[in-house]
Amino acid sequence: MKPKPYGDPEKLVFGRTFTEHMYTIRYSEGKGWHDGKIEPYKPFVLDPAACVLHYSQEIFEGLKAYKSTNDRILLFRPEQNARRLNRSARKLCMPELPEEIFLNAVKELVLLDQDWIPDAPGTSLYIRPTMIATEPFLGVSPAKEYLFYIIMSPVGPYFKSGFNPVSIYVEDELVRAVVGGVGDVKTGGNYAASLLAGVKAEEKGFYQVLWLDAKEHRYVEEVGAMNVFFVFGEKVVTPMLTGSILPGITRDSVIKLAQELGIELEERRISFDEVLEGIKTGELTEMFGSGTAAVISPVGHLYYKDKDYYINNNKVGKLTKSFYDHLVDIQLGRAEDKLGWSVEVK
Ligand SMILES: Cc1ncc(COP(=O)(O)O)c(C=O)c1O
Repeated sequence: MKPKPYGDPEKLVFGRTFTEHMYTIRYSEGKGWHDGKIEPYKPFVLDPAACVLHYSQEIFEGLKAYKSTNDRILLFRPEQNARRLNRSARKLCMPELPEEIFLNAVKELVLLDQDWIPDAPGTSLYIRPTMIATEPFLGVSPAKEYLFYIIMSPVGPYFKSGFNPVSIYVEDELVRAVVGGVGDVKTGGNYAASLLAGVKAEEKGFYQVLWLDAKEHRYVEEVGAMNVFFVFGEKVVTPMLTGSILPGITRDSVIKLAQELGIELEERRISFDEVLEGIKTGELTEMFGSGTAAVISPVGHLYYKDKDYYINNNKVGKLTKSFYDHLVDIQLGRAEDKLGWSVEVK
């Protein structure tokens, strides 16, 4: 058998290994999108005055390709990523990319570099579509030239030591995003703004931050790269989209899956006091995060204002596990795709 180009999948570190090829397409005002092509993965030549380097006109997406049964390759709801990219583009005054260009480029690139999709349990090929403003000028106004590109990275199993609950640092001082800002789209600046809290959390031994709202520091927003869900009694509750939370595609999938499975689910504001009260009374029985990287990640421990709070004795809850199993089964093509979420690359 041919050796795998990415080596041992267990040793893959997220986002450190890239496949052989990338897709690029350029935009210029008056000409539109042009010169779309797949080429070998290589560094770009960028003018030092390129707009993206000074004023952060940049947006990106993240999705995965999975090896399925019978040598099939599946994408999970990629049209949602194409749509969200264009929402981000509108907010950052960047040109929208026709959805079919996005989808065809993803499919063609995955097909070409298909040997890079790991097939061990829990592994996948992470796909990173990105758009940057390339026009060289200094000054705060929308650029007239852009580059859209796609790179891909094989990823090892997210849960290396099994599907276990994670511990999360609740940030009560710094904020990620404000209503009316750009927190509800995927632009690099949001992540740069989150680094300081991440470092603070890491110093205390935590690798993820739970953000509260910017105005009152009272309502639960989301985790670094995941939306969050709580189970109060038998009811699943998730923060409503107020304008500062990223509308996650996994979040939307959990909501639709709950409908399908007849599980009661509510989108509303959730105060952190309510979470603490729920933990105290035992009404809050589960908490989990949702996102492309982990799919579903159980949360068993919150650290807030120097105190530890444990949910469900730091054990994985029933609904958390059920959402994880259902989603992974659909993504891998092991369960019937009743909601039409899988897109075949081949
Ligand atoms: C800030 C943020 N929230 C939530 C998510 C989850 O979104 P999705 O389910 O589309 O991956 C992500 C990941 O993309 C994210 O970066």
